[in-house]
Amino acid sequence: MEKELPYDLLVESLPAHVAFIMDGNGRWAKKRVLNRVMGHEKGVAAVRQVVESCRKFGIPYLTLYAFSTENWARPKREVDALMGLLTRFLRKERRQLMKNGVRLTAIGELHRLPDEVRDELSSVMEETKANSGLTLCLALSYGSRSEMVEMVRDIAEAVKKGEMDLSSVDEALVSKTLSTRDLPDPDLVIRTSGEMRLSNFLLWQCAYSEIFFTDTLWPDFSELEFASILKDFQGRERRFGKVLQP
Ligand code: IPE
Ligand code: IPE
Ligand code: MG
Repeated sequence: MEKELPYDLLVESLPAHVAFIMDGNGRWAKKRVLNRVMGHEKGVAAVRQVVESCRKFGIPYLTLYAFSTENWARPKREVDALMGLLTRFLRKERRQLMKNGVRLTAIGELHRLPDEVRDELSSVMEETKANSGLTLCLALSYGSRSEMVEMVRDIAEAVKKGEMDLSSVDEALVSKTLSTRDLPDPDLVIRTSGEMRLSNFLLWQCAYSEIFFTDTLWPDFSELEFASILKDFQGRERRFGKVLQP
């Protein structure tokens, strides 16, 4: 018998990969006359919630855009606070991730992260690598353009060395050379905080993703809203450029 899902969600048309642009932490704090960092701290609870919801609904891949290549240009104090928060998150969540069978992965210019974050990240990734439940991918110091530059370099180098023929460069090879090679393309991208842009997130991979924008600020994002977005997704007709049979 098929598993019954809450909120009237249909098992057969769930997205395999949901990606979140978690935006609005600063505004959440500002509204309460708090420091921006308090908004980021509050945002961690929403991260936990959304991981839990994906497990509950049976969504196998979740990507969270946590820090962009452009975010390095924020005030040092805020960047330091975010890195500290990330380290603490990884330390704290390790046990829970293992308990829940979550496999942690990461994409982005990870070499730019402070040693503490990198060490914690690689050790949690190593420990959880055999887990077969949800795959949770953190986009950290991630930028789609930088990822594409890296991909072009890798392919050009292989061609130059004679390991590959130019004629074998195709869409599948590009996908396989990007850092997201182990993830399916996102079926659904959700951005919170009312901004309607992708901000350098998975530009190649989102070619046919369904996109959903909500005004809710990330720290206020709830399971109920997630479920209603999934319900909306299940009602959409994905045509991929084709004409569907009447
Ligand atoms: C998203 O919240 C978190 C990061 C980008 C790190 P913001 O910090 O961008 O919050 P707003 O957009 O200023 O409200
Ligand atoms: C996008 O949010 C990046 C993350 C959520 C990590 P930003 O707040 O950095 O994006 P812009 O500056 O509004 O485009
Ligand atoms: Mg923002």
